[in-house]
Parts: sequence; C-alpha cells; structure tokens
Amino acid sequence: MSNIESFNILLNTTKDDRYQRWVEFREGIDSSLLRVITGLESRKLAIIIGAGRCEDFSLKQFVNYFERVILSDIDVESIFNAHDYLMLTKEEKARVEVVKVEYTGVENSGLFDDLVNRISKLDNFDDIEELLLKGFGDFKNYKFLKKYSADMVYVSPIYTQLIYQQLLMVCSKLRSVGYSENLLKYIENYSVDKLVEVFEVFNKNLERITNGRLVVASDIFQDYSNSDFMKRIKKDFSKGSVDSIYNQYLEDYGFGMGDLGLYLLNESIELLDYEWHIWPFVEGSDMVVKLAIYKK
Ligand SMILES: C[S@@+](CC[C@H](N)C(=O)[O-])C[C@H]1O[C@@H](n2cnc3c(N)ncnc32)[C@H](O)[C@@H]1O
Repeated sequence: MSNIESFNILLNTTKDDRYQRWVEFREGIDSSLLRVITGLESRKLAIIIGAGRCEDFSLKQFVNYFERVILSDIDVESIFNAHDYLMLTKEEKARVEVVKVEYTGVENSGLFDDLVNRISKLDNFDDIEELLLKGFGDFKNYKFLKKYSADMVYVSPIYTQLIYQQLLMVCSKLRSVGYSENLLKYIENYSVDKLVEVFEVFNKNLERITNGRLVVASDIFQDYSNSDFMKRIKKDFSKGSVDSIYNQYLEDYGFGMGDLGLYLLNESIELLDYEWHIWPFVEGSDMVVKLAIYKK
C-alpha cells in the first residue's frame, strides 16, 4: 500500500457519526449541485473526485440524474463501505464505477518512503533540497482518469489534504525529536512552493476530464464553532458579508491552501459562480467552504 493511501485511509477512518452531523451541509451542497445538474445539456457521465465516504454530497442524486457515475479516490474501501454506496440498488450499482486514483503523481518517486528517517540524517539545506527534489520527482506531466470526459465533475474538499498535511506531519515528527527549526522551516517553505505546482497539475487534470461543468468545493477557513470569528461569519452568512470577511482575511494573512487551489483554477477556466457553505467538520470545529462552479 502506498504512503499516500495509508495516510488517507487513516484520516477517513473515524467512528464519529459524520454522516448525521453533515446532513444540513450535505443538503446545501446537494441543492447547489442540483441547480448545476439540471442546467446541463447532457447527463451521460459524472465524475466525483475525492469521493471518500461520500458524505459531503448525495450519491443517490448523482445516480438519479446521470447514466454513469465514476467515484474516484485513493481510498476505495471507504467508498465501498459508504452509507450511500451500500444503499444503492443492484441496478444503480451497475451504473457506478469505483476507480482508485492517486491525484498528485508524487508517490511515484517515493517521496514519503521512510521520509522522517531519511531527513533526520541530514543537517544542511543542500542535502535536504536534493532529497526533496528527487522525492517530488517529475510529476509535471502526470495524468489521472485518462480515458474519461465527463458532463460534470464534482471535487470534494481536497486541496488542503493533497500532500501538505502529510508533509506537515513529517515536520511535526521531526520537530518532536528536536530537529533543527531552521531546516524544518526550509522544508515547510519548499513544500509550499512545490504545492503550487502540484495544484496546477491537479487542476489541469480536472479541466481535461471536464466537458461541461466543473464544481469544486474547497475549505477556506477553519475555527472553533464558538470562536468570535465563526460567530461573526455565521451572524450574517450572506455572500456579500462572507466575501468581505474573506477579503479582509486575505489582506491580513494571504492565501491558504484551500483558496490557492481555486485561485489557480480561476486563472485557466471560466468561473460562472460561487457560494459559501458551513461545514460542521468535527464536533466543536467548523469549516467555511467555497463551492466554485466552472464552465468548460
Ligand atoms: C476531505 S475528503 C473529502 C470528503 C469525502 N468526500 C467524504 O465524504 O469522506 C478528501 C478525500 O480525498 C482523498 N485524497 C486525499 N489525497 C489524495 C490523493 N493524493 N489521491 C487520491 N485521493 C486523495 C482522501 O482519501 C479523501 O477521501
């Protein structure tokens, strides 16, 4: 099993009753998706990216409207065990294909193989740069889901999960054993720079497999549900109000991973519209998600 696969299986494995807690969020996403679906000229194929446990969207809705649905993720066991997948009839399941995909291509060069141990033996910037350069490898031409072209592609929130969390975990393990803070900062900065390229390759793949509408959900803010920040956002959740909080945040702190992915996408494909949603991600902590709708 690859490192990226085992990392994500671990994240997807939770006893927490997310399915129930996410009902309202899922309904909000579903009604936005339905508006897009009903406006399509053709509904032959839908592709879901980052399907996981299929809990942030209704699989049934996709199955009802499309002739075929592709559910993709690196963790396909989560899809097969998903509540919505198990509830499908035999006929519906026959129209759903589960495809195992790794979206970044960096695993091919063995980036994460024994990474903590390999870095811990290095004590200078040059050696670390060489290791990371080799580790990320040549992913620039990486293509996934090569043979597909979909009327609609839905991307579950994923930018913030693509590699970066895994790299941060490596850094935090190294930090806990007293590894040089300067070198860790270097690794973190190097990873952020590389992530821009990873997102660009990922986005290019999204565009290539879309032949209609691309709908991308991305988590932009996260905070405690009862924090002053979240209370301010929830008090007036109109688009204008969230936009202005977001613009202020952007000025103060710059891009996060979630909006960087969308920003890069905006540069190359036509953005039709976007909406904000609140995602009660875990008990006591919420995310604010941007749902961006693109036209190809
Ligand atoms: C935050 S989840 C999205 C929520 C998901 N739709 C659900 O309901 O469980 C992101 C998904 O992306 C998958 N993922 C993360 N990194 C990946 C990668 N590099 N390649 C393929 N899938 C990846 C994870 O396995 C996870 O299922």
